[in-house]
This record gives sequence, structure tokens and C-alpha cells, in this order.
Amino acid sequence: MKGFFISFEGIDGSGKSTQAKRLCKYIESLGKECVLVREPGGTPEGERIRRILLDKSSDLTPEAEFFLFLASRSILTQRIIIPSLKLGKFVIADRFADSSLAYQGYGRGLDISFVKYGNNVATKGLKPDVIFYIDIPVELAMRRKSYSDRMEKESFLKKVREGYLKLSKEHGYIPIDGRKSVEEIWDDIKGFFSKMLEVNGIDRDNV
Ligand code: ADP
Ligand code: TYD
Repeated sequence: MKGFFISFEGIDGSGKSTQAKRLCKYIESLGKECVLVREPGGTPEGERIRRILLDKSSDLTPEAEFFLFLASRSILTQRIIIPSLKLGKFVIADRFADSSLAYQGYGRGLDISFVKYGNNVATKGLKPDVIFYIDIPVELAMRRKSYSDRMEKESFLKKVREGYLKLSKEHGYIPIDGRKSVEEIWDDIKGFFSKMLEVNGIDRDNV
């Protein structure tokens, strides 16, 4: 595939959406097409699935929750991400398969090899070329967002963060310090991205 696939991972409130949007705008400013997608969602069907997943009145089992994330991921990957990459576009994903490993695997306790297998089926084995992982203490992330079920969310997110930290080496994450300001984080991401373009021999004027 000719394109380039970048995903952003991290706990809720770590700053992923802010930075993913910036990176996509920056790529467009270089004259290259960039497709920004989010999970769950990113397709009309996926957005419907997203509503079920985020609805507090949904009484889902961990397994059902995982299957819904996989359904959304499968449609997004096969209908949007893979065709865009084939056309040589950049694709930026605000969350991808590693979110299920961290949340459904380490957070909810589903078997890790089962989550990996499900991810692999849904994505047809597609992996991001680069995963930016924005790391931030749970307390700070929670101050940035408001939660109704605060205590439950805090202990859950601690497990999710530990999961991400375990996955970081195994999956070659590019770690980003999420405690910094929006501008400082953007400088780190832009710096890494620019080096990446050079290493991959992508001509900046022609990106
Ligand atoms: P995520 O997508 O990881 O949940 P967002 O990018 O939506 O995170 O950011 C969550 C909230 O925190 C938003 O209100 C956003 O404006 C704010 N925010 C994002 N990055 C920072 C930062 N580095 N410092 C302070 N606030 C931030
Ligand atoms: P969203 O508001 O998009 O995330 P954020 O708060 O980081 O901006 O909500 C998506 C929620 O779904 C978030 O709590 C993480 C969770 N999630 C999973 O549990 N598993 C997954 O595979 C994905 C993609 C998301």
C-alpha cells in the first residue's frame, strides 16, 4: 500500500483528538490528502454502533462490547482505511485496535490473545505504520473531562493506562508526554513526523 497509516492511543482526555486533528491539518498544508477517522465510528454504520457503545443505559457484557468495537473497526478498516491507503493517502486514526487491547483486554479483563485474534480478523492484519501513545496520569486526564461515574472510571482507567504501558514496548509506540501543553505536545509530534518523512524518503515538497 502506498499511503501512510498513523494512529493515536491513550486514555480518555489524554489529548488525542486535539493532536490528531492538528496532524491531519498539517499534512494537508503540505499538499497531501489526509483522512481523519475515529473509533468507534468513522462510517455511518460505525457511528450508529458508537451510540450504542457510549449510551450509559446500554447494559453490555464485556464480550458484547468487544464485538461491537470489532464490528465498527471491521467496517472502518475495509471501507475507508484500506481504500484510502491504496490511493496513497495519509490516514490518521483517533484510536484503533490497540484501544481494544488496553480497554477490553487490560481494562475489562478479556483474554489478551482473544482480543488480539479478534483485532486481527477485523483489521485483516492491518497495523498502523506509527502509533503515537499520549501518556498522562489518570487524575490529570480526568480533570480535563467530566464524568458522571467518577470513581468507577478512575480505577478502570488506571488499569487501562497500565495496559498501554505494557503494550508500549511490544508494539513500538512513540511515547508522548501528555502532561505538556497543547503546543509543546504538537512540537514533539511534528518533530517526530518530519523525521519520519525524511527516513521514509518522502519528499516534503511533494508529499
Ligand atoms: P481525547 O481525544 O484524548 O479524549 P481531547 O483532545 O478531546 O482528548 O482533549 C480533552 C480535553 O482536554 C479537551 O477539552 C481539550 O481541549 C483539552 N486538552 C487537550 N490537550 C490538552 C493539553 N495538552 N493541556 C491541557 N488541556 C488539553
Ligand atoms: P471517545 O469519546 O471517542 O474517546 P476519548 O474520550 O478518548 O476521546 O470515546 C470512546 C470510548 O470508547 C473511550 O472511553 C474508549 C472506548 N474504547 C474502548 O473501550 N475500546 C475500543 O476499542 C475503542 C476504539 C474505544
